Amino acid sequence: MSSRILVLGGGGREHAIIKALARSPQSPELFCAPGNPGIAADATCLPDLDPADPAAVAAKAGELGIDLVAVGPEAPLVAGVVDAVNAAGIAAFGPSREAARLEGSKSFAKEAMAEAGVPTAGYGVVTDRESALAKVAETGCPVVLKADGLAAGKGVLICLDESEAHEAIEVFFTEQRFGTTEVVVEEFLEGEELSLLAICDGERAIPLAPAQDYKRIGEGDTGPNTGGMGSYSPVQTVSSDQLAELSALVHQPIVDLMARRGHPFHGVLYAGLMMTADGPKVLEYNTRFGDPETQAVLPRLESDLVELFDAASEPGGLAGKSVSFSPQWAVTVVLASAGYPASSSKGDVITGLDAAAATAEVVHAGTAERDGQIVTAGGRVLNLTGLGPDAATARDRAYDAAGKVNFDGKQMRRDIAERAVRRERDQEQ
Ligand code: AMP
Ligand code: GLY
Repeated sequence: MSSRILVLGGGGREHAIIKALARSPQSPELFCAPGNPGIAADATCLPDLDPADPAAVAAKAGELGIDLVAVGPEAPLVAGVVDAVNAAGIAAFGPSREAARLEGSKSFAKEAMAEAGVPTAGYGVVTDRESALAKVAETGCPVVLKADGLAAGKGVLICLDESEAHEAIEVFFTEQRFGTTEVVVEEFLEGEELSLLAICDGERAIPLAPAQDYKRIGEGDTGPNTGGMGSYSPVQTVSSDQLAELSALVHQPIVDLMARRGHPFHGVLYAGLMMTADGPKVLEYNTRFGDPETQAVLPRLESDLVELFDAASEPGGLAGKSVSFSPQWAVTVVLASAGYPASSSKGDVITGLDAAAATAEVVHAGTAERDGQIVTAGGRVLNLTGLGPDAATARDRAYDAAGKVNFDGKQMRRDIAERAVRRERDQEQ
């Protein structure tokens, strides 16, 4: 069992991971690069180590006698941090660079889905204006255009009509705003979104509790996309039987495919699903924990996360293991700084953190310490996770805590988990 673990990343997701690892009966020694002031309560932070520099991470892990490196964000995975750590003889929780292409390249993911028989939106890959115009005309509107590489959720343009599609084509091919001219043109899907994450050991995928996240900045899903303004778990529409079926449909075939290709998938495979009238379809894969889904999913985890990370880092290591979740609800509300998502405000003093901790888990996302005070240091600043026996209680606890935290320009959505609370009321009637 790993006793010295290095987590890469410094946002809310990594704080939630550190909190879950700290609950392990193994009491591991925890390190985090770069970490943040919240993480510092449970781990030694390494602010000078760049998590996306594979050679530096492998060297530091060796120096510190780390047994396992667990990767939070996508950039280190795509840079090949797992390959470098493994080459140094150290275990890692996360996919290799080649396996991380499922997130790093949309066209790679679409081809993998086609080969593995996973349901997804119809698509074509285009590399110039003329073929983009032709593909848009063939697909019809609404249509979705996606930059091929990593774009932090911003490289996806949903075009309701031809004129929006033509503008988007200019953005991709004339302005080259996303730095690539490889663009996926795909059919627009309607339905409710679901985040379904599975932990994988190169051979099998074990699903984690389902979650939903709220991507838009504004209430009622309006305004621009963000990294995520809130989340909740579980999701009433997915029973435990359906969870196994869904995972067999969207995770296992990809794990099998990557194993056949000689690039076994280890770590978290996150399927972003659209539950359409024609059944579930995969919108995208991420090759890591979701942010902010993790902040709502991991507080419900009853299994030992250290044991799961160790098992998933070994070929077939999850054999005979199961993952259990408590029946309680978790609702996560994100507090964002002024200007987010277009910009973010740094250095605003944050108050009320101790009072908030009385009703919710306080997770630091973009904070810094300055002269003994906690200040804002990013777009998404804090996450408050309320737990309770039902969705309404968990939601009330999260908002109670969110109301106690203050900083200049604080932004939050007030409708997180509203859908779950409404379903709960409907079921009671
Ligand atoms: P992605 O990065 O591919 O998940 O896309 C970001 C967001 O855009 C998704 O979470 C959806 O809300 C939306 N989206 C992506 N693809 C589609 C699609 N084919 N139809 C409808 N909405 C989509
Ligand atoms: N919550 C969406 C993501 O982590 O990509």
